[in-house]
Amino acid sequence: MLARVYSCAMIGLDGVVVEVEVDYTSGFPGMTIVGLPDAAIQESRERVQAAVRNAGVPFPRKRLVVNLAPASVRKEGPAYDLPIALGVLIYTGMLPPEAAEGTMVVGELSLDGTVRHARGVLPMAATARQAGFKRIVVPEADAAEAALIPDLEVIPVSSLGVLYNHLAGRKPVPAYTRLEVEDAPLFPPTDFGEVKGQEHVKRALEVAAAGGHNVLMIGPPGSGKTLLARALPGILPKMSIDEALDVTRIYSVADQLPPETPLLRNRPFRAPHHTISHAGLVGGGNWPHPGEISLAHHGVLFLDELPEFGMRVLEVLRQPLEDKVVTISRAQGSLTFPASFQLVGARNPCPCR
Ligand SMILES: Nc1ncnc2c1ncn2[C@@H]1O[C@H](COP(=O)(O)OP(=O)(O)OP(=O)(O)O)[C@@H](O)[C@H]1O
Ligand SMILES: [Mg+2]
Repeated sequence: MLARVYSCAMIGLDGVVVEVEVDYTSGFPGMTIVGLPDAAIQESRERVQAAVRNAGVPFPRKRLVVNLAPASVRKEGPAYDLPIALGVLIYTGMLPPEAAEGTMVVGELSLDGTVRHARGVLPMAATARQAGFKRIVVPEADAAEAALIPDLEVIPVSSLGVLYNHLAGRKPVPAYTRLEVEDAPLFPPTDFGEVKGQEHVKRALEVAAAGGHNVLMIGPPGSGKTLLARALPGILPKMSIDEALDVTRIYSVADQLPPETPLLRNRPFRAPHHTISHAGLVGGGNWPHPGEISLAHHGVLFLDELPEFGMRVLEVLRQPLEDKVVTISRAQGSLTFPASFQLVGARNPCPCR
């Protein structure tokens, strides 16, 4: 009997609900995955088969076919392992078909059935909430991130076996409730008060902070330019909860969110080295990922030793500086990432003077 489980694909920062269907076809025992999967999903065949066996369930001696719908959306990453494995359990009759109703499932599997961290859990949970799902099953490590979305039950699972026992009603997993603990800040700012003297520069930075202006600091080596730039985020207004969620969503998709910091409350401070590539700065890659300018969204992008950045690299900053977003075009389509940052540059005076 056909089994159906729901998961989520990410297109840039937006999620799309994906139906994972499991059925069988004629052929040698094994598994075929269709529906525009990338290499990581093709490899999920091996992980799912091993994990299902290690959860104590014999893998069906049939040719299973897994369809990821809608087929027009490209799927990437290993987060479909868990929904596929769950689909197999339902298909074999180990779980009733209604076990996964109203539930979105994401997670990568190890061969022993352990569920590993998945990136993009926050926007996926937001998509689940929007699409009317009641609950989301996530890796244990990502539960705090998913719990940022209100009115959505979060079921943290550590292994396929745990999920199996939960859905079979043998050993229910309690829904995750967020503890109000102080998160470890990812960007602890330098204290502005530590900067001695330099009253005119500090005044200029205060004006920039109040008005959201871009700044260029020119001064001899050792005059404190780097120090002053690092102190700027500390005097910027606190992020609103919506801004914090916006920023966290970007870090979640870029897989740069540490597990002990489910919500980024401090404004980001990004200081890429001048050897950075185009794609690293504005975002890109085969599957477009957010670049430094998007990771600096609602925060500060600090380009130290500004003239060392190549002319071409600086030119690509023009459009995002004006539009506050960056659009990356690829053969598969174009994606827009937010990039509303404050640019701070520092350089030494021209040697000709
Ligand atoms: N006004 C200041 N108050 C406190 N510390 C300062 C001040 N100016 C410089 N320093 C200290 O001096 C050292 C050098 O400063 P910093 O690296 O910020 O200089 P810089 O202008 O960036 O130099 P470079 O052009 O070589 O990059 C740092 O350890 C910094 O903490
Ligand atoms: Mg410096």
